[in-house]
Amino acid sequence: RTVDWESEETGKSGYDHYMLKEIHEQPRALRQCLQERVDELSGTVDLGDDIADAVQNAESIQLVACGTSYHAALYAAELFRSQGVPAQAFVASEYVTSPPPHDDDTLVVGVTQSGETADTLSALRDAQRRGVDTLAVTNVVGSTAARECDGVLYIRSGPEIGVAATKTFSAQVLAVNMVAAVMGNGSASHEFVSALRDLPGQVQTVLDETNAREVAERFVDSDAYFFIGRGYDYPVAMEGALKMKEISYKHAEGFPAGELKHGPLALVTANTPVFAVVTGETGSEKTVGNVKEVEARDAPVVAVTDGRTDVERYADEVLEVPETDPRLAPVLANVQLQLVSYHVAKQLGRNIDKPRNLAKSVTVE
Ligand code: AGP
Repeated sequence: RTVDWESEETGKSGYDHYMLKEIHEQPRALRQCLQERVDELSGTVDLGDDIADAVQNAESIQLVACGTSYHAALYAAELFRSQGVPAQAFVASEYVTSPPPHDDDTLVVGVTQSGETADTLSALRDAQRRGVDTLAVTNVVGSTAARECDGVLYIRSGPEIGVAATKTFSAQVLAVNMVAAVMGNGSASHEFVSALRDLPGQVQTVLDETNAREVAERFVDSDAYFFIGRGYDYPVAMEGALKMKEISYKHAEGFPAGELKHGPLALVTANTPVFAVVTGETGSEKTVGNVKEVEARDAPVVAVTDGRTDVERYADEVLEVPETDPRLAPVLANVQLQLVSYHVAKQLGRNIDKPRNLAKSVTVE
């Protein structure tokens, strides 16, 4: 089933930028993604027989993607591994350069909003040439990836006009959570199904209550921005940095929190805020330890947190997110970081919807 988005929804609807409009469309996009796929009464997730067969037969999964979609793929790989399925995310251009070994039951999943990214298509075709089954996770109905892959899962976000991917990242993360549930025969715990159902409303809460603009105003003149996280928070740190550099043109880097002390800490100064994404429980205490190291070097700390640790004690600013299942918390944390980047870029007068040198869909390798 596909969803038609009205033509008026391709306008800016009173928002200054498509990016801001699309950030605010996330609750709706997530609801569309869930619709008729998740049944709360029976606690089941149903993505259709084709996808169920493909993912239940897969003994290992390789994900290929670029940019923001690669960050969703990184997240998905961790999620699938937590289900006991060997899974790894590859930057699509590297996958083509050095294809990893596969066996008969490997599934290659291409994560691509547009379904037209040349590097990702090339990786998917490479897999197909080697006889490997492929699945596209995409937003665009009838896109090349959707047509060429053996299976397709639509994320149903509606048109995304801004070059910066926002609502589609959230929907990709939601979609791969549904895939993970299908891997386990489609039955999910009642708590998890409720968490899926509550997620769009929690995104709305973040949008309504965020202090991201104040944080952006405080740090708009900084030399650089660093983002750290571990586990499911690591792809969010990477995505936070990509969004910041893409639309603000400021230096931004994301690191696994544990890597900070292996080099990047040398870059940390009183004028380089460190955004620490700290949600869920796994590893969070260790990230708080990394935050203390940063604080000791006088760097301002912005904690993006669901309040499960005492990271706020060491933070100069806090971007709060509601508590949810740890697998879904990254979506909420990422919405806060989307807004910080947006407001930094806006204050710097950047061309937010069409950043210099970038295209929405990159059709060359
Ligand atoms: C994200 O903000 C970027 N515009 C970019 O990294 C993008 O995610 C990448 O080019 C992949 O695009 P796709 O999802 O359409 O394949």
